Amino acid sequence: MGLNNLFIFGKTVSGDAFTDREKDTAKLISNFQYGVNTFILSPRRWGKTSLVKKAKETAENNRLKIVYVDVHLCRSREEFCERYASAVLTQTSNKMEEWMDNARTFLNRFSFGVNTAADPMSEITLKLQLAPQEQSMEDLLQLPERIAKRKKINIVVCIDEFQQIGYFPNSKQFQTELRSIWQHHERTSYCLFGSKKHMLETFFDDSSKPFYKFGDIIYLQRIPLEHWVKYITDKFHREGKKITQKQAAWIVDQVDGNSSYVQQLSWYVFQRTDKKVDEHILSEAVTELIEQCGDVFEAKTESLTGYQMNFLRCIADGVHTGLSSAKNINKYNLGTSSNIAIIKKYLLEKDLISIQQKEVWLTDPVMGLWLKRQ
Ligand SMILES: Nc1ncnc2c1ncn2[C@@H]1O[C@H](COP(=O)(O)OP(=O)(O)OP(=O)(O)O)[C@@H](O)[C@H]1O
Ligand SMILES: [Mg+2]
Repeated sequence: MGLNNLFIFGKTVSGDAFTDREKDTAKLISNFQYGVNTFILSPRRWGKTSLVKKAKETAENNRLKIVYVDVHLCRSREEFCERYASAVLTQTSNKMEEWMDNARTFLNRFSFGVNTAADPMSEITLKLQLAPQEQSMEDLLQLPERIAKRKKINIVVCIDEFQQIGYFPNSKQFQTELRSIWQHHERTSYCLFGSKKHMLETFFDDSSKPFYKFGDIIYLQRIPLEHWVKYITDKFHREGKKITQKQAAWIVDQVDGNSSYVQQLSWYVFQRTDKKVDEHILSEAVTELIEQCGDVFEAKTESLTGYQMNFLRCIADGVHTGLSSAKNINKYNLGTSSNIAIIKKYLLEKDLISIQQKEVWLTDPVMGLWLKRQ
């Protein structure tokens, strides 16, 4: 057994640690194969990145290259385009000479520096030689299509943390430019996803938005309870420890089936268990989970008003619809009913709450447990 390969959290999962998602994987693979643009949406830490990496592994071959790029650290369109082009160059060629050749052919306006400190295949960085102009930007954005035509292959560019472009100066204009260039690509398609569902949705939620009807939208669902129960009980039993199906289901339920927290809480339970899980162990493990997150929740909520906190408490108490009813307003002291919409909008923007099928949920289920203990 390797270093904790039982319950993995805090990084993308693959192989044995990746469970279920068979339908989503199959759908994504076929979108990749047929060049269908895709948005993937889900609340935080449900498994988007892991899903994309899994589909990439399966779908990739000599005729179909799948580029993965994370734009989390990009602060401007220039940085975005550089990162995008670097990833496309290096990940569509098997040999360094080949991508250097592509770079010379298609990007003659740029010089590029190779970071020799690390693996040159993954760590090259393009440096813009000229003050970035629209024309040069466009060359970078056209790169995958030009390479695809030259090599007679198809390319999928998967962009993780894509919502980041929403924070760029003149974001809407940039979104419009991206769409207008990308929509003409014949051999290149796009898979766009990220951890801030609300921000991503603002890119395409009505017909005035640049990415309106850009492609297919996959709303990732929770991994079903019965999959988790099997996953958890199998792993305990494999290591000679006993857990009942009911106890496993309880773990999943505590964290609303959030993939990452299911794994984390399972790990805390596992660590405490000598032979057999009991109630005391379960409750201690939950306490550890809440304590782990407490400081972060403190920081995220310290500037909220009393009404905003009460709104969160109301959801934590299990109220997901009808928050503006007179009964709830009174019970939870939410202020005036006209104020509720404002509170909701603010908390959505802060990413503290999310809307799922018209219901209001805390973005972070452990925050709910934490609020209840306050
Ligand atoms: N298919 C899966 N099977 C088991 N566990 C999973 C699966 N997908 C995700 N997880 C768990 O969730 C965690 C987060 O996964 P991942 O980073 O892929 O999610 P994400 O949706 O991309 O997160 P973020 O919203 O932060 O970008 C993993 O570390 C793992 O614990
Ligand atoms: Mg992710």
